[in-house]
Amino acid sequence: MTANLPRYDKAFDPGPVELHARDVHFDVSDAPLEWIPGHPVPSHVISTLNLFLPEGERWFVRTFNEALPLVRDEQLASAMRGFVGQEAVHADTHDKALRDYLVRGGIDPDPAERQMAWIFRRLLEPRETDSPRKAHKNLTERLWLIAAIEHYTAVLGDFALNSGWARGGAHPGMTDMFQWHGAEEVEHRSVAHEVATYFDNSYLSRIRAMVISILGLFLIISRTTRYLLKADPERNYPFPQVIVGWLRGVRAGHVPSLWSVILTTVPYFSTKYDPADVGSTAQAVAYLAASPGARGGAQ
Ligand SMILES: [Fe+2]
Ligand SMILES: [Fe+2]
Repeated sequence: MTANLPRYDKAFDPGPVELHARDVHFDVSDAPLEWIPGHPVPSHVISTLNLFLPEGERWFVRTFNEALPLVRDEQLASAMRGFVGQEAVHADTHDKALRDYLVRGGIDPDPAERQMAWIFRRLLEPRETDSPRKAHKNLTERLWLIAAIEHYTAVLGDFALNSGWARGGAHPGMTDMFQWHGAEEVEHRSVAHEVATYFDNSYLSRIRAMVISILGLFLIISRTTRYLLKADPERNYPFPQVIVGWLRGVRAGHVPSLWSVILTTVPYFSTKYDPADVGSTAQAVAYLAASPGARGGAQ
């Protein structure tokens, strides 16, 4: 997404890799709220991920654990177990960052967390029904929603790996945490799509889920960002300042432009869509091998 940076050549992509959760540690205990220096708005925009990812990723885990006993393809089941392990660690890591970083910075995450809990534990929980057919349909709808959301986590993961954070002097622990997460999102980007296709290979289901996901993600990210900007005890953010801050962040490679994210959605509507076309496994694996926090140690 940041065209000025060198990109990994797809010809060297190793293809699917065996997925496993990593033992990680990221020290964000001294990260300021403005963890990307000179860019408070992009700092908050990226930090919203700490607020909604834990609930969202635990919902992924519960839904995949519900689907796993129904999968007869051992290769797919193994990829699902790797996916579940990675998403569970992502959720715990962002939960911890929420306490070590946001709460310490003077932001109360409770109101935003309650909203996320309502969305992911009530609105999107399995429907109670006596009909096995309806229960199965409900499960496949949730699996397609996860596949659609995972399109964006891969897009954002690719963005994180090629962002301007490190060269902009961003906090190393926060940078590593978001890039490690981004790399694992790129690494497992095909799993949710394959699972949803295995259960219900329907173009209509795929597109319906994408439309719902676009609206849902836009609402969640814009509401949570607004909440963080309002709760920031250090400064006020009048609306024009938010727009200018965002655009400056886009230019510096600290946040993706809305336009670039919309553009990545176009291929999803093609019948030939392949999640592997987003990002580079080679780049993700190379990052994971070098990430200080993912190599089992502190920063
Ligand atoms: Fe994740
Ligand atoms: Fe993911």
